Amino acid sequence: PAQAQALKAQAAELLRARGAVLVAHYYVDGHLQDLALETGGCVADSLEMARFGRDHAAQTLAVAGVRFMGETAKILSPEKTVLMPTLEATCSLDLGCPADDFAAFCDAHPDRKVVVYANTSAAVKARADWMVTSSCALEIVGHLKAQGHKILWAPDRHLGRYIQEQTGADMLMWQGDCIVHNEFKGIELQLLKEQYPQALVLVHPESPRAVVELADVVGSTSALIKAVVEGQAQDYIVATDNGILHRMRQLAPGKNLIEAPTAGNGATCKSCAHCPWMAMNGLRNLISCLESGSPSITVDEPVRQRAQACITRMLDFTA
Ligand code: 13P
Ligand code: SF4
Repeated sequence: PAQAQALKAQAAELLRARGAVLVAHYYVDGHLQDLALETGGCVADSLEMARFGRDHAAQTLAVAGVRFMGETAKILSPEKTVLMPTLEATCSLDLGCPADDFAAFCDAHPDRKVVVYANTSAAVKARADWMVTSSCALEIVGHLKAQGHKILWAPDRHLGRYIQEQTGADMLMWQGDCIVHNEFKGIELQLLKEQYPQALVLVHPESPRAVVELADVVGSTSALIKAVVEGQAQDYIVATDNGILHRMRQLAPGKNLIEAPTAGNGATCKSCAHCPWMAMNGLRNLISCLESGSPSITVDEPVRQRAQACITRMLDFTA
């Protein structure tokens, strides 16, 4: 802990010296989340990260999360420098949806509005009409359906199915998934619920249907945190990346947080649910990028302009 405190102090000083602000996701290392809050940055879900980065006056953003989060920040603020602890931090949804294949899919269905999840590359967003995150996907697809549009959705098949079931929209879907949420298991969750009959079950919608069906609350990372803070229950079963528990414990210290079970080890499985790419972010590589000014995000300008249109559409809609 003393070493972590020293590293945090060093990173805080570098942020100050660079005039940079730290924008962190709830799944990254707790020290990074704390540092962000202590230095005037934010810890947030994907939608709030995008808005915070765009609206903050700092000319340098340090983004602790995965690559699409840094790209979104750069797309919205091309004049800002966007640093990341590592550019290797990707996402299985992004990896599973290559831009060329996706463009061919879109070309084959020109009659559909193209809606993509935030967890995609800049090039995929450049081909889309709308970007959405888990916090606004239902609302936006519902709006498009009401206007009579058919949807082409990519890449998360579980989130897509959930939205399709909730809105009744006509959705043609890419078949991607998140390697973390895809591992949550319905039968084991049912058994855990029987052990904790009073518990509220909180589920991120990237999880499989059998898990979502057992949920009391389905929502983005911010929505799940709000559910713990405001919930009347004592016990909460949490089906999302366990990095989120850090902030939940801080905001709801008296409550009992239980990780939802993942594959293999049944209801006793602990700490299976952590994104390997989120885990690549740490104080040391944050310090390194703040010292050297590298790595930083670049996005090809024509791609950036097209991607900006689809992200801005979402930000305007949810404003
Ligand atoms: P949120 O937008 O809910 O924070 O989700 C981002 C993500 O990568 C979930 O796995
Ligand atoms: Fe992607 Fe899943 Fe990691 Fe989120 S948790 S960044 S969706 S692989």
